[in-house]
Amino acid sequence: MKIRALLVGLVAVGLSATAVAADPIVIKFSHVVAQDTPKGKAAEKFKQLAEKYTNGAVKVEVYANSTLYKDKEEMEALQLGAVQMLAPSLAKFGPLGVRDFEAFDLPYIFDGRDALHKVTKGPVGKQLLAKLEPRGIKGLAYWDNGFKHLSLNAPIRTPDDLKGKKMRIQSSKVLEEQMRALGALPQVMAFSEVYQALQTGVVDGTENPHSNLYTQKMHEVQSHMALTEHGYLGYAVITNKKFWDGLPADVRSQLDKAMAEATDYANEISKAENDKALEAVRASGKTQIHTPTEAEKNAFKKALIPVHKKMESRIGADTIKAIYQATGFDPSKF
Ligand code: LMR
Repeated sequence: MKIRALLVGLVAVGLSATAVAADPIVIKFSHVVAQDTPKGKAAEKFKQLAEKYTNGAVKVEVYANSTLYKDKEEMEALQLGAVQMLAPSLAKFGPLGVRDFEAFDLPYIFDGRDALHKVTKGPVGKQLLAKLEPRGIKGLAYWDNGFKHLSLNAPIRTPDDLKGKKMRIQSSKVLEEQMRALGALPQVMAFSEVYQALQTGVVDGTENPHSNLYTQKMHEVQSHMALTEHGYLGYAVITNKKFWDGLPADVRSQLDKAMAEATDYANEISKAENDKALEAVRASGKTQIHTPTEAEKNAFKKALIPVHKKMESRIGADTIKAIYQATGFDPSKF
């Protein structure tokens, strides 16, 4: 009798365990960069923590390197509910109709990571994420990558060196204007296509944080790079609002916890990951790396900071002003 009861009990436990395992909530998390980048590593960290904190009730499938969707497609897929989570660069929200995020693309707007965090970890960052909600998107967090540098198949010392050069950019009107301010010809292109475009000469150059340049092997097809740090590239982690709001409250709160920890992790590793990538590019010997002098840096600032004023009507004067106030940036100094 006892044995029978035990067997019945075991079967019951087995069944319920199987039921949980067979029916987890699946979060497809698609992104376009390599796994060995700040975003790639943070997405893996989120997966690990989310599955642990929900005891397997949630399964996170991470699709790196544009294996599931490319830039433009992934935004559409999120709105349609074909994926549940993305972390697009802040430069890619304009096509959604939320132009304020392009403020992050304004050249030299953040004088280092502390200034950036005053926005991404403060009220301005929160207000910007809230602007996504009418589009059916919920902003969960900001993840850092790093500051961008120019690369080209020719030396870069002055803004004039960019004249007439075809430069790949992300889909941001601010970046378009930035390249025009240098006399370059901007070309919007999906991230997954950049290596080949550089290799075949469809474009002459581009701009990247080092981790993106290195992990896509772009340094192998770019002879020169200048450490201009002229702009920032980072991410907003976003989810489909209907999906998120429909989660059981206890699951959602565990996912919030996982996201908060993955965000700390992303922001902790991003600088070191980029420093490491720069050293790897240097060690490869394939790209000549120029560190601009103070005078050379100032020439880039002089050419690029007027882009702020020019893009004010597109981004919204209030958003730009709120960022200036949070960071202490004073454009009249340039
Ligand atoms: C790019 O397209 O250059 C970046 O947005 C890629 C990324 O996600 O970091």
